[in-house]
Amino acid sequence: MILIDTVAKMQEFAREHRGEIALVPTMGYLHEGHASLMREAKKRAPIVVASIFVNPTQFGVNEDLDSYPRDLERDKRVAEAAGVGVIFAPTAADMYPAGYQSYLNVEEITKELCGASRPGHFRGVTTVVAKLFNIVVPKVAIFGKKDFQQLAVIRRMVQDFNMDLEIVGMPIVREADGLALSSRNARLSETERETALCLSRSLKAARAAFAAGETSVAQLRKVALEPIEKERAAELDYLEFRDPDTLAPLHTADKRTLLALAVRVGTVRLIDNCILGEE
Ligand code: PAJ
Repeated sequence: MILIDTVAKMQEFAREHRGEIALVPTMGYLHEGHASLMREAKKRAPIVVASIFVNPTQFGVNEDLDSYPRDLERDKRVAEAAGVGVIFAPTAADMYPAGYQSYLNVEEITKELCGASRPGHFRGVTTVVAKLFNIVVPKVAIFGKKDFQQLAVIRRMVQDFNMDLEIVGMPIVREADGLALSSRNARLSETERETALCLSRSLKAARAAFAAGETSVAQLRKVALEPIEKERAAELDYLEFRDPDTLAPLHTADKRTLLALAVRVGTVRLIDNCILGEE
């Protein structure tokens, strides 16, 4: 495995390997969720490039850019074991040099859910992902459904800007007790981690009610809220039932309905989601 740390060197490599690259964009502090994307990438192209870049433009002023966990040495081992051939880890100064002033914005589906609580977040995500696509020129890029709205926004961007690559979405990887893997879990204390289980409990309760025949979103919402409201240390940001493609709100649920939620536990903001009719 090789490490490429400048945009220029990455572009040179990409020029020599057109049509052979699968890209897995990450912000590092890799876990089994990231590794699952890398293994899938390896099935889809001879060369897997994983980017590791804590992208400053997608963090708000009061968000956790400075405290975002970082460990490049460990990341190298995880990536290599998952089949990564190239780690692309540029600096912020290389990605956003002095005079930088271009941003890409997907308009409607970035306005709600995480977009409402994190203004400017998706503009930063689409900007960096578009830059990564231009630098690495992958034939396929792999994203996790853990960030369901992010995946929907990227699919929209690729379609709207006629970007010539395939986007693949992969299932959420969870701990045995249901907690969705996230680099931010490293910032939870032991008691906060217990509290954080209310997210997956909420999804499970809603799925069970749906499986038992409940389709009213108002009723399902009550069921899903209960495990979160029980936890005094959990502060709900949003809990929404949406169309999985457009993210439009719904009154009646069906098996394709997305349940997405965001909850603050201490200083850590956690997200999770499920499709009601899926395991
Ligand atoms: P990051 O949070 O590091 O996530 C990188 C990729 O891993 C994303 O596609 C995310 O959905 C996926 N992922 C995270 N946790 C997962 C889990 N438990 N199961 C499956 N997949 C999981 O998302 C970002 O970085 C950034 O916004 C990025 C796209 C890299 C742009 O900066």
